[in-house]
Amino acid sequence: MPFIQGLSGTDSKSQVHGVGSSKGSVWVEQRKLAHIGLNKVGMGKTDAMEEMIGEEAQTLCDRFAEKAKFGPVQIKGKLPVAINNVIWRMITGRTTKQDDPFMNEMTERMDSHFKFMSPSSIVSTLMQYFHRITKVAVKFGFVRGYQDFIVLLNNVRNEVKDFRAVQDGNFVERYRDEIAKASPESSFYGKDGENHLVGQAMDFFIAGTETTTTFLEWTLKYLINYPEIQEKLAKEIETVFGSRPSNIGQKDQLHYTQAFILESYRHNPMGILSIPRMTMNDVTLNGTFIPKHTQIFPYFKSMNRDPKAFEDPDQFRPERFLDKNGNFVTNDRVILFGKGRRKCVGEVLAKAEIFLFLTYFIHSFKIAPVAGEDYSDASNPGLVFTSSPFKVELIPR
Ligand code: HEM
Repeated sequence: MPFIQGLSGTDSKSQVHGVGSSKGSVWVEQRKLAHIGLNKVGMGKTDAMEEMIGEEAQTLCDRFAEKAKFGPVQIKGKLPVAINNVIWRMITGRTTKQDDPFMNEMTERMDSHFKFMSPSSIVSTLMQYFHRITKVAVKFGFVRGYQDFIVLLNNVRNEVKDFRAVQDGNFVERYRDEIAKASPESSFYGKDGENHLVGQAMDFFIAGTETTTTFLEWTLKYLINYPEIQEKLAKEIETVFGSRPSNIGQKDQLHYTQAFILESYRHNPMGILSIPRMTMNDVTLNGTFIPKHTQIFPYFKSMNRDPKAFEDPDQFRPERFLDKNGNFVTNDRVILFGKGRRKCVGEVLAKAEIFLFLTYFIHSFKIAPVAGEDYSDASNPGLVFTSSPFKVELIPR
């Protein structure tokens, strides 16, 4: 599908590579490897993943604490580099600093590319129907978001080519093992395999950064808009962790925090739409006929705010996920990472990042509003619905 082909693993000739854009048997092979590879380099080992995320979360808190000495802190733009560093490390084995100019440039270009790929972007919409004209516009550099994508792709290609083996292994290394033993009919074979490797790395960076960052930004807005909820969270985190940094192993003891996170998945304005997909055959769904090759946008908001599933669905109320004894009760009706065989392959990583970054923040700071800043839920449409930039006051706890 042209729209989604442009999202990540697609090269300048619109050939699809990676997992997010593939289909059929190629997708099956690439998805399996994405899963195994990510598990091997961290997602399947809680301690290793926790260490990587914890280091970034602590560094970010230290940087925020420094900035907070001079007044309100701008949140926008600080989180993505920290989040990107985690994925970068899992893929290439390299550790980058949060002020690293290369990673900052990569992050800005990703942001620009994500905006370009939004269903509300006129160019990406036109690309679906007028391929030739838009390709000329792209070729002559009129479409910045696409140019950014090409630069990103080349940078990732160079990094992947130039990778180093590290003690704990990395995704590139794991993938190269698969290329080495591939037979000619496999999508891992030869140049195709190399292209899919770059496509997967692009998938992870692009699918994993904007989503997690945007989610955390909206979550900070909830903390500001509901100070009493923030205080309950701070109390629970302090009771369970004391002076130690938070850890995933004790997550089950944090009933209110888990309820808050699930309510943020359900309520937040970011996850309105999922990635578009296409019907492979004619189908009839609940009496509605959908012809073959129709582009489908799953509308998460209609499920997450369904009054039949959630009482007062527009209200933000973490308590809806607590039983009468205050214990967390999960609810499968909340959807943020998709459902079925194509559901998000980075879900475990994303959930760990959300839990750790959030608990590190709340443990470190009281997050307070700054007069004149916008903390409303007005969102900018896109593949994920982002919030506008906002400053906060960070008071060390
Ligand atoms: C809060 C963070 C995240 C959210 C809300 C999110 C959400 C989603 C959604 C809704 C889908 C589409 C599912 C479908 O089509 O049914 C998806 C797919 C995907 N996500 Fe995530 N994601 C997040 C983080 C991540 C991270 C950290 C990674 C990478 C490590 C990642 C990698 C991917 C990939 C590769 C796909 C395509 C899977 C496929 O086509 O088989 N995502 N994600």
